[in-house]
Amino acid sequence: MELVFLILVLTAVFSVNSTDPIVRTLYGDVRGVRTDKSLQFLGIPYASPPTGVLRWTKPVVPSSWGPDVYNATSHKPGCPQKYCTTYLPNASCPLQMSEDCLYLNVWTPLDATRTSGYPVMVFIHGGSFKWGSGSNFIYDGNNLASGGEVVVVNMDYRLGGEVVVVNMDYRLGLLGFLYTGDAPTDANGNYGIQDQRLALQWVQQNIGNFGGNPTKVTLFGQSAGAQSTFIHLMSSKTNGLFRAVIMESPPFAVPYREKEEALLLTERVRKILKCPERDIATCMRTKAVDEINDAQEEITLKVTAGKFNEYYEPIGPIIDGEELTTQPMLAASQGKFRNIPIIIGTTTEEARLFVYGAWKKNLTRTEYEAALAVVHPSHFEKIEEFYAPKPDLDDYRDDLCTVGTDFLFTCANRNATRNFLRSSNSHLYLYVFDHATVVHGGWGKEWFCEGHVCHAAELGYIFQNQLVGKPTSEEKQLASSMLMYWTNFAYSLDPNKGRLSPALTWPKYAMNVTSTMHFLTPKNNLLTNYRNGFCNFWDSVGYEQT
Ligand SMILES: *[C@@H]1O[C@H](CO)[C@@H](O)[C@H](O)[C@H]1NC(C)=O
Ligand SMILES: *[C@@H]1O[C@H](CO)[C@@H](O)[C@H](O)[C@H]1NC(C)=O
Ligand SMILES: *[C@@H]1O[C@H](CO)[C@@H](O)[C@H](O)[C@H]1NC(C)=O
Ligand SMILES: *[C@@H]1O[C@H](CO)[C@@H](O)[C@H](O)[C@H]1NC(C)=O
Ligand SMILES: *[C@@H]1O[C@H](CO)[C@@H](O)[C@H](O)[C@H]1NC(C)=O
Repeated sequence: MELVFLILVLTAVFSVNSTDPIVRTLYGDVRGVRTDKSLQFLGIPYASPPTGVLRWTKPVVPSSWGPDVYNATSHKPGCPQKYCTTYLPNASCPLQMSEDCLYLNVWTPLDATRTSGYPVMVFIHGGSFKWGSGSNFIYDGNNLASGGEVVVVNMDYRLGGEVVVVNMDYRLGLLGFLYTGDAPTDANGNYGIQDQRLALQWVQQNIGNFGGNPTKVTLFGQSAGAQSTFIHLMSSKTNGLFRAVIMESPPFAVPYREKEEALLLTERVRKILKCPERDIATCMRTKAVDEINDAQEEITLKVTAGKFNEYYEPIGPIIDGEELTTQPMLAASQGKFRNIPIIIGTTTEEARLFVYGAWKKNLTRTEYEAALAVVHPSHFEKIEEFYAPKPDLDDYRDDLCTVGTDFLFTCANRNATRNFLRSSNSHLYLYVFDHATVVHGGWGKEWFCEGHVCHAAELGYIFQNQLVGKPTSEEKQLASSMLMYWTNFAYSLDPNKGRLSPALTWPKYAMNVTSTMHFLTPKNNLLTNYRNGFCNFWDSVGYEQT
């Protein structure tokens, strides 16, 4: 009797916290928090800290912490990165950083239990492989997990299906991608990619207990995150880790470095850090993170070779023959990727962020021509002739944006998509996002993106955390529709089929029906032959920067 009483008292005491969810993982229990929209687990370690002797080694699984309960109630710092706020909108940059950064975040619907089996959406953030963090506010999964923040006017239910959302931080910049050689003691590169894959393996092993279905994982990413997604699609090492992908704005035409090119860069880092020629990695493991990142900035500011990836993505994945065997556009044309359902798309003004970010002043005709010559040396005259910009403009930045968007994104993606088709992939959905947020003020120092549809503009409509000011009712409709297509795809592999059906059916992309979903206000519509003449032109000159 007394014992029962005691137990009752204890239960009462502990029930103060009983709404905080505790979930078992392979490495021990984790305690999250119940928000008004989701069960949220922040900063769960999926690898041991990649520090000390583990810097530039393959990620290793974490040690167990049981029987202690891990406190997954607050964000961990992002991976080390410098100058992020100089180049990207502040919202894309972590406030705190630490080399100990291999953590992931999970958001589940409020009613999730071990038997829920919700589809899982794993997100890889962008930032040119050197910036960004899954813990940024813009990627917070509360809205996506709960079917949408934005409740459409005159409807009292949320439109999306509920899903489990996961994102992870992965090693960035030189810490994630340094390549010094192939010996075991060397830095072998592509660590960031391996980190992402370890997080996907963690999802397979643990997400069931959170209420997710490990056989229904959709991998999605934006920009470098979308490039990463395609790397995982090309790799047999990810077999069974996901069943569908969404690639938002992958710059498909950006090639990765070969080993020899990576070594040229490494040599410059070595000199800056005053390391000996032998066993560079051992010396570099003794350097402070700040020194490494300063050296990284120094080498990327002074470009030596003429290849465009040196401007756009100086440090990132390399073709190492193991993690990555083929350049993405070639892999697409050779059918060297897993044939699973794909959503792929772009924004209408992808290149604006980069062009205006790089040129703060008017771009003269000569500078415009020089830029084309760098991007595409063998055909720059043809390109200029084809796009035929007006003579005697004061500023050619807008013209450069148009060329860059077509070349790097729109047409390269169309080419890849058509190659997916040739590999008899029958589940392809193409989109173009074409809405500039009405209320200005969200872009900060990237003021030139106000009123434009810059790279990353769609993220605010998927995660629904950044609809600055008061979104218009049309913007709410747009956000709801996108969230519905995205989560339907996670549920059924078809953006049109889920808990609710969207008003407009999104047809599959096919050679004879080149339907592209056109996301915009007041209403989405379908385009056929989007940028057809321009993309035919790019297909004819090719995407290689020779
Ligand atoms: C968990 O972390 C939160 C935020 O840092 C803190 O407020 C809380 O006291 C911690 N809880 C435990 C049990 O350590
Ligand atoms: C962005 O971050 C930088 C560096 O932390 C800071 O100086 C600047 O004030 C921030 N800008 C905005 C608009 O928050
Ligand atoms: C820059 O170009 C704009 C037109 O695009 C023009 O109005 C302005 O005068 C130019 N500024 C300079 C400094 O040439
Ligand atoms: C497009 O091609 C597919 C397969 O070849 C065929 O089944 C379909 O009827 C065609 N659609 C149109 C509109 O021509
Ligand atoms: C893709 O572009 C290449 C040029 O790089 C061209 O030869 C090929 O025909 C294009 N493929 C498709 C499927 O459009």
